Amino acid sequence: MFSYRGVFFITFVLLFCKSSSKLAPDYIKPCPGLKSECLKKNIQETIPYFVKGIPSLGINSTDPLFGEPVELDLPGGLKIKFSDGVIKGFRKCIVEHVKYEGLEAQLNLRCGLSLKGKYKASGRVLIFAINGDGDARIKSPNVSFSCKIKFEDRTREGVIYREIKDYKTTYSYDDKVSFQFTNLFKGSPELSATVLTFINENWKQVLDEFGKPITDKIVEIVFDIIKKFFQVIPRDELYVS
Ligand SMILES: *[C@@H]1O[C@H](CO)[C@@H](O)[C@H](O)[C@H]1NC(C)=O
Ligand SMILES: *[C@@H]1O[C@H](CO)[C@@H](O)[C@H](O)[C@H]1NC(C)=O
Repeated sequence: MFSYRGVFFITFVLLFCKSSSKLAPDYIKPCPGLKSECLKKNIQETIPYFVKGIPSLGINSTDPLFGEPVELDLPGGLKIKFSDGVIKGFRKCIVEHVKYEGLEAQLNLRCGLSLKGKYKASGRVLIFAINGDGDARIKSPNVSFSCKIKFEDRTREGVIYREIKDYKTTYSYDDKVSFQFTNLFKGSPELSATVLTFINENWKQVLDEFGKPITDKIVEIVFDIIKKFFQVIPRDELYVS
C-alpha cells in the first residue's frame, strides 16, 4: 500500500527525473532550421555563459582558458616551454558569420586575446640566440578565426549525439600583437630589453615564424572543450526542425 509519504516521494522522484533529463543548460537555445541569423544571435548570446564551462558535465572553462604545460619545438631550433598558461578574452569574441548546412558548419569569430604564463626558451628568435626563463605575456587585440566544422551522428546507449568529427581553422592577426617577455637572456636585463623591443618592432615576422604552432595549440585546446560539449549533450537538445 502506498502511504501519503510514499506518493509524495514518488512524485518528487518523477519531477526530479523529468527536470534532470535535460542536460543542456538553459542558455542553450536551439535554432529552428539552423537559420544563420538565429545561429549568429544565439551563439553570440551563449558565449559569455559557455566560456565559464559546465563543471557538472566535465566541460572546462574557456575564459579563462587554462593550458596544461606545453613544449613546442619551433622553427629555427627554438625550444619553448610554457607553463601556468592562462588565456583570457574568449568571452568577448564577436560572431561575424555562421552558416550551418547538412553536417557542416562555418563559424567566423573575431576576438581580442591575452596570454599569460611562465616560459623557458632557448634557440634563435629572428637574429638573436636567446636563453630565457621568465614571465610571458602576449596580447593579440584583434584576431579573426574562420572555422569549418564537420559533424557526425553517433549513437550511444540509444541516444544520438551530433559530435564534431573534424575541424579546420584559419586565422589572421588583424592588429599589432605585442610581446612582453621578462629575462630573455638569463641575468642580462639590458640585452633582454633590447631584444624585446626588436621582437615587438618585428611582430609580423615573429608571428610568421612562430604564430602558427602556438595558435594551433590554443585552437586545439578550445576545440577539445567544444568537442566535449557535443559529446555529452544529446542531439535532440541542440537541434530542432
Ligand atoms: C579588427 O580588424 C579589422 C580588420 O582590419 C577591422 O575592420 C576592425 O575594425 C578591427 N577591430 C577592432 C576592434 O579594432
Ligand atoms: C579539462 O581540464 C583538465 C584539467 O586541466 C584536463 O586534464 C582535461 O584534459 C581538460 N579536458 C578537456 C576536454 O579539455
